[in-house]
Amino acid sequence: MVDMTMHFRAQRQFILLFLAMLFGVTFAGAADVDICNYELWIVDQADSNNGTALIGYGGYIHIFNNSNFKRPCDIVDLGAETAQLCFQRTGAYPVRPHMLFFNLAGSHAILAFVASGHVVIFRAADRKPLTCFRSTPGFNGLRQAHAAIPTRNNKHIIVANQNGKQVERINVDWEREEFVYDLNATLALYGNCTTPNGLPCESPDLRPDNAPICPPSLADPTLTFVTLRGGGMFVIDYTKTPLAIAAEYDKSTIGANGCGGVSTKHYMYINSGGGTASNLYGFKVYKLPTRGYSSANAPNVPAPKIIANDSTGDRDAHFAGILHNKRMNPTYYWQPDRAQSVIDVFSFNTDKFVNRIDLKATNLSTDPTPDALVISPTMAYAFVSLRGLIPLSADPHVSTGSSPGLGVLVVKNYGRTARLASISSITNIVNGTNRADPHGLDLRVTSDSCDVAYT
Ligand SMILES: *[C@@H]1O[C@H](CO)[C@@H](O)[C@H](O)[C@H]1NC(C)=O
Ligand SMILES: *[C@@H]1O[C@H](CO)[C@@H](O)[C@H](O)[C@H]1NC(C)=O
Ligand SMILES: *[C@@H]1O[C@H](CO)[C@@H](O)[C@H](O)[C@H]1NC(C)=O
Ligand SMILES: *[C@@H]1O[C@H](CO)[C@@H](O)[C@H](O)[C@H]1NC(C)=O
Ligand SMILES: *[C@@H]1O[C@H](CO)[C@@H](O)[C@H](O)[C@H]1NC(C)=O
Ligand SMILES: *[C@@H]1O[C@H](CO)[C@@H](O)[C@H](O)[C@H]1NC(C)=O
Ligand SMILES: *[C@@H]1O[C@H](CO)[C@@H](O)[C@H](O)[C@H]1NC(C)=O
Repeated sequence: MVDMTMHFRAQRQFILLFLAMLFGVTFAGAADVDICNYELWIVDQADSNNGTALIGYGGYIHIFNNSNFKRPCDIVDLGAETAQLCFQRTGAYPVRPHMLFFNLAGSHAILAFVASGHVVIFRAADRKPLTCFRSTPGFNGLRQAHAAIPTRNNKHIIVANQNGKQVERINVDWEREEFVYDLNATLALYGNCTTPNGLPCESPDLRPDNAPICPPSLADPTLTFVTLRGGGMFVIDYTKTPLAIAAEYDKSTIGANGCGGVSTKHYMYINSGGGTASNLYGFKVYKLPTRGYSSANAPNVPAPKIIANDSTGDRDAHFAGILHNKRMNPTYYWQPDRAQSVIDVFSFNTDKFVNRIDLKATNLSTDPTPDALVISPTMAYAFVSLRGLIPLSADPHVSTGSSPGLGVLVVKNYGRTARLASISSITNIVNGTNRADPHGLDLRVTSDSCDVAYT
C-alpha cells in the first residue's frame, strides 16, 4: 500500500494536473521558477550485465532529480526484482525496456518491454514494481509492447502490441493500485478487422502494415491516436469494449512510423518518421483538431493540417514537445530529428518553421541522436535521451549515437531557441565496451509547490 504522504501528494498533483488540463496544457506544461522539484527516469534498453556479459533480459532505469543532473540518485536494475516478478507472473523474463511514461499524478511509472511484450507498473516513490503483464499473441502469433501509455482520463493504459498488430488495454485505479489486463478490450488491426466505413483495417493501398507504434490520448474526448508502422492511423475510443475505431486515416494522409503525439489547447500533433530498414527516412508533422471525430465520418476526416513535409534528405522525425509561456499559452512545437540531431521549431500560432536547434552546436557530441524528449515544468530545461553506440531498436542508420546519456538543454525565449548544455553519461560496460542504449524518458513532479505555477 501507498503511505499517506504518497496519497496526499498523488491526489494533490492529480488535482493540479486536472486544473492544468482544463486550461488545455500538457503534462509538461507547468510554469515558473525553481520551486518545482522533479525526477527524470531514463531507460537503458540494453540488458542487465553481470560484470562479464549481458544476461539476456532486464536493463536499467537511471533516475535523476533536478538538484543534480550529473549523477543519478537511483538506478533500478530491471534484471533483479522486476525480472523475477515478470517471470513469476508470466513465465518469461522481460526483454528490451523501451518506453516509459508516468501517469498524470506522477505517482506511477509504466514501462513497456518491446521485445518480450511485458508491461511493468512501478510505484514511483519507492521504485517498486507492483505488477507485470504480458501482451497477447496476435498477428502470426507474435507479441510485443512497443509503448504502454496511460490515458489522459486517468483510468487506463493503452498498449501498442507492435508485431502482434493489436491495441490492448489495462484498466487502472491508481489510488487503489488495482490493475486489470482487460482482454475483452483488445482490438486486432489485421485479418478480418474492418473500419466503420466497411474498409479493411489493413490493406496494401490504405494501411499496408498495421503494427501500432504510439498511442497518445486525450482526456475529452476519450480518444487515442494510434500511429501505424506502414502509414495511416486509427483514432480509437479507448473507453469502448472492445476498443472502437472512431476515425480512419490512410497512408497518403498520415505517413508511416509516427511516434510523438502531443496535445495542447484544441490540437493534437502527430508526426511521421523513418527509422526502419524499409522506410529509412521520414519527416512529417500534422496538426489535428481534438474534436470532430465520428464513426459516421468519411475516411481522413477531420483532415490534418500539414505543418512539415521534408522528403529532401536523411531526416527522422521522432518524439515531440510543446513549449508554453508563463501564462500557459502554447508557444512552439518542437520536432526532434534523430538522423540530423536537430530540433525543428514551429510556431504554435502561425504553424511556420521558425528555428532549428542543432544539438551538435555546443560540441559536446559529434552524433547526439536524440530519441525521447521531455520539457521541465518551468520550461527552463528540456531533456533528451541520447542513443548508444550499439543501438538495440530502430535501424542503426538513424539510431546509432556517439554519446549515450541524458542530454540537458537550456531553453530560451519560451522555446524558440535552446542549446545542449550538458550530457550526463549513462554506462553499461561489458568487456570494456559501453553497451548502454538510452531510450525511454519521462519526468514526474515530486514537490507539492508546483501549484504556484497554475494560479
Ligand atoms: C566478454 O569477454 C568474454 C571473455 O573474453 C567473452 O566470453 C564474452 O563473450 C564477452 N562478452 C561480450 C558481451 O562480448
Ligand atoms: C554472466 O552471464 C553470462 C550470460 O548469461 C553467464 O554465462 C556468466 O556465467 C555470468 N557470469 C557471472 C559471474 O554470473
Ligand atoms: C537528488 O539527487 C542527488 C544525487 O544526484 C541526491 O544526493 C539527493 O538525495 C536527491 N534528492 C532527492 C530529494 O531525492
Ligand atoms: C470480460 O468479459 C467477460 C464475459 O462477459 C466478463 O466475465 C469479464 O468480467 C470481462 N472482463 C473484464 C476485465 O471486464
Ligand atoms: C475475426 O477473426 C478472429 C480471429 O481470426 C475471430 O475470432 C473473429 O470471430 C472474426 N470476426 C468476425 C466478425 O468474423
Ligand atoms: C510531401 O512532399 C512530397 C515531396 O515533395 C510530395 O510528393 C508529397 O505529396 C507531400 N505529401 C503531402 C501529404 O503533402
Ligand atoms: C564548435 O566547434 C566549431 C569547429 O571547431 C567552432 O567553430 C565552434 O565555435 C565551436 N562551438 C562552441 C560552442 O564551442
